Amino acid sequence: MGEKALCRELLHTAETGSTNDEMKKMLYAASERLFAVLSADRQTGGRGRLGRTFLSPTGGLYFSVSFPLSGTENNIPFLTLAAGLAVAEALDGFNTTGSRRIEIKWPNDIYINGKKACGILTELVTSPFGLAAVVGIGINIAEITEECPDTLKNKITSLNGEGIFAEKNTLMTEIVERLDKFVYSQRVLENVPDRMTEELNSRSFLAGRSVAFIDDGKEKTGTVVSIEKDGSLKTRTADGDAYIKFGEVTVIKQD
Ligand code: BTN
Repeated sequence: MGEKALCRELLHTAETGSTNDEMKKMLYAASERLFAVLSADRQTGGRGRLGRTFLSPTGGLYFSVSFPLSGTENNIPFLTLAAGLAVAEALDGFNTTGSRRIEIKWPNDIYINGKKACGILTELVTSPFGLAAVVGIGINIAEITEECPDTLKNKITSLNGEGIFAEKNTLMTEIVERLDKFVYSQRVLENVPDRMTEELNSRSFLAGRSVAFIDDGKEKTGTVVSIEKDGSLKTRTADGDAYIKFGEVTVIKQD
């Protein structure tokens, strides 16, 4: 990456409930700024956004990264998108023929050829040394097996299933170094460069799609316009533009 990488403590375990939960415990107990990465071969209680379960069998890459914050960051929601970009850019390096579509589904998923291959969960912790973020990343590496519930099978994919072969530690290092550069060198949580929103939008799975979402407690539909610098998703509806900040966006199937 042409820049000196941040020195991080690297920890690994064969099995844990959730690497995010373990990292949060470490942060609560830390007396000084903790720059760590914790990975696991499998998780028994992997968590996704909106209280969902993230199935984490052996064969995937599951890790959490701690980001001590200085308090000057004014755009923390952008961290998940920056992490998505770090994953997508790192995967580009293994997409040797460039033939797979590697896209970001706002706000926290990576899609390969139209199916989810990676999810990101960002959480905040107030530790004894101050505020820190935990970015948890789960990537399906090995092919999806028969044990995968039918409801998921058509929606998810894996790197190997799409012909992408990446050594887990190499991929994890590539992602973490990119994300460290975004957060600590480029300070994108204070000032998002135009280049980043342009890249996010050029990789946006939802761009131009019809979606349904909840806004102000009302169900709405619209067409996705863009990902904005504040991390929101701009959507054109019959009542004007809506800027979605939280929650779920569902693609409306068009035949
Ligand atoms: C989602 O799909 O909504 C986000 C999934 C995030 C999964 C990762 S795996 C590592 C870390 N530990 C967890 O329990 N969750 C995240």
